[in-house]
Amino acid sequence: MSESDISPLGRGGFHCSLCDVRLPNSPTLNDHIKGKKHQKLLSVRRTRKLQQERSVFVSGFQKGMSNLEITDYFQKFGTVANVIMDKDKVDEQLKKLLELFEFTDSERMLRKLIVSLIQEVFSEFFPSCKVLLFGSSVNAFDIHGCDMDLFLDLENTTTYQANASATAETEGVKDAHFESQSEDSILSDIDLKISTAAEILEVVATVLQKCVPGVHKVQAVTTARLPVVKFIHKESGLQGDISINNRLAVRNTTFLQLCASLDPRVRPLVYTIRHWAKQKHLAGNPFGGGSLMNNYAVTLLVVFFLQNRTTPILPTVNDLKEHAGEEDQCIIDGWDCTFPRNGSKIEATTNTEGLCELLAEFYKFYAAFDYAGTVISLRDGKAHLVTDFIGPDSDKQFRFGPINIQDPFELSHNVSGNINERTAQRFKRQLDEACKYCRSLQYQRKSTKKKAWGIVRLLQPLSSTDCSPAPSPSLDHSPGKEMSHGENMLSIPFKLLCLSEQTKKRLHGSQDFREVWFDKVCHAVLYVMESILKCSCSYTEENNTQINNAEINSLDEAKNKEVKISSGLKRPNPEEEIAETSSNKRSRTEAPLYQGEVTWQCAVWNRIWIGRRKIRRQLRYRTNESDSDNCGIISSLETEAKITEAILQQEENSDKSSPLVTFRLSAFLVGGNEDTRTMIRVTPIQDSTLFVEFFHFLESFIPKMIEKCIEKSD
Ligand code: UTP
Repeated sequence: MSESDISPLGRGGFHCSLCDVRLPNSPTLNDHIKGKKHQKLLSVRRTRKLQQERSVFVSGFQKGMSNLEITDYFQKFGTVANVIMDKDKVDEQLKKLLELFEFTDSERMLRKLIVSLIQEVFSEFFPSCKVLLFGSSVNAFDIHGCDMDLFLDLENTTTYQANASATAETEGVKDAHFESQSEDSILSDIDLKISTAAEILEVVATVLQKCVPGVHKVQAVTTARLPVVKFIHKESGLQGDISINNRLAVRNTTFLQLCASLDPRVRPLVYTIRHWAKQKHLAGNPFGGGSLMNNYAVTLLVVFFLQNRTTPILPTVNDLKEHAGEEDQCIIDGWDCTFPRNGSKIEATTNTEGLCELLAEFYKFYAAFDYAGTVISLRDGKAHLVTDFIGPDSDKQFRFGPINIQDPFELSHNVSGNINERTAQRFKRQLDEACKYCRSLQYQRKSTKKKAWGIVRLLQPLSSTDCSPAPSPSLDHSPGKEMSHGENMLSIPFKLLCLSEQTKKRLHGSQDFREVWFDKVCHAVLYVMESILKCSCSYTEENNTQINNAEINSLDEAKNKEVKISSGLKRPNPEEEIAETSSNKRSRTEAPLYQGEVTWQCAVWNRIWIGRRKIRRQLRYRTNESDSDNCGIISSLETEAKITEAILQQEENSDKSSPLVTFRLSAFLVGGNEDTRTMIRVTPIQDSTLFVEFFHFLESFIPKMIEKCIEKSD
């Protein structure tokens, strides 16, 4: 047994990390160590270690090289017992997946035919128009049966119509050609220059329905963010969307085609990751919209990852621009969309990483990524601090969210701006799991028991129980930080949206937004604990010292004397803190009061977690407070404080000689290349069954209250 397998837990217990079991005391520990499971795992580990010491990892050899050739070469250095080429097998699985999903030639041809049919008919009604496919039908990431996204380019038609009517007006005669075209084409009914997208799409829908053979279920959806005409091609069942203001999408489709053409690893990786995201219910909402990630966003994540390998596999958009010629210059809606039309001038990468390794690295890269604190930019292949994007010069329209992916061309657009906190948490959880799986033997080695292995196992659909949101996002530990057993953690992720415009402006370009967040969370924690939950809290300088009875007594004293704070820090009255003047806030933000790890010893004197819902309902009934935003879970800060007061009054006659629960609250910051957040560790000082109940309440109450508190005080 290795000493490091066993670690002591509080109250005389132990944890065996080899078998991942908790043992309440020394006798059970001794039995466990002598037991079958522990002994078996020890022996497996010993064998693996020996194998590992006698193994060499070889990469970068030519494709198609046989086991025999490799054995031959390595015989020079000693006996070769075995050659395992498992990595190739995972690589093969990725390639197979691509083959299974991509279009056949006939599917590709069918789409082209449908487009030329629509083009032919539309040209009759909208002279000089162009019908262009974009999205998955042509971006190199096609999947059987995927939607047909079509862009109807009416720019030339609009110019044509304007010119024709100007000529008619100045010459007083009607252009015979325009006249004949427009009567047929409905152009006499609509002025393209001044009509809204909705009006034009209604006309497009009419033409499509009445004049394009083989098309049915035509419907103009003009209220969506991107208005479209939907249709179905009868024969094939293919669904299509026609939009008219989507030139950027056509251009970014060409960009994705270029990325796919630059390296053969791009397509199998994108297919695998897109399929993984679909299987885990993270992306690809079949009905569009919603809070799932779109496939375009997932693809951009893969491109960004490949830009960020130590030896990059894909160039950044700015690098690509350097290789663009005169004829490639392209500005759309004011955005620079310049990149070369093909990759012939771009040097091939020297990176030789295999697909198996890259896939595992993808999960590792994103499992330890700071989503809320950064903006992913494919333009320069960097993750920028959000604070670089919130200043006066930055584009105000960028919609920050729990995940920020900047469109590589339309720089004010957050491609994952539709994602909510819940989806982001599920995304991180799935990344963690995939990352863990890719470290396991099943990932790289074919199962001898015919079990799913490699990417087959990775791509298994989520079971119904996994579909539910994380039990508590607040307990979702960051992947880089192992939490030891027996610790109860709350996590408060960085949320730019909680901060006032003034704070955002002040933070512009600063590196210390994480510290500012930490400071704000610490103030808020203290406010919630003391002013809303009426707990006593005392700041402690010695953060990690063992708490003893004397300290509990000091908490008792604190309560008796009604002294809330016994720290060396001078804390403002919480009520005043909320109503603080902006000049005070500024100085506090500039010099955070709380830094490093901050610990308070706290005590609860009443069962302030019991019956809150009922009192909340009564208070709401009395004050007519709306319940819409919180679904009955949490009210305003003031109401929650009143609820606690009401519980205190109900319990007035109960014994208050000692606290019900005593615990330590320690706040510390994580962040850097992992998610920016303040973690709060809650540790019981005295054994108490009530602590479990109380912590359960804190888990849902604290994160939401802190957010409200920061929003209000900022
Ligand atoms: P999708 O996300 O549907 O991607 O966006 P897809 O590759 O076509 O995958 P399917 O259709 O789900 O199989 C379609 C296209 O819309 C544009 C992109 O050109 C993308 O390829 N798009 C999408 C944007 O320009 N911006 C966005 O935020 C989303």
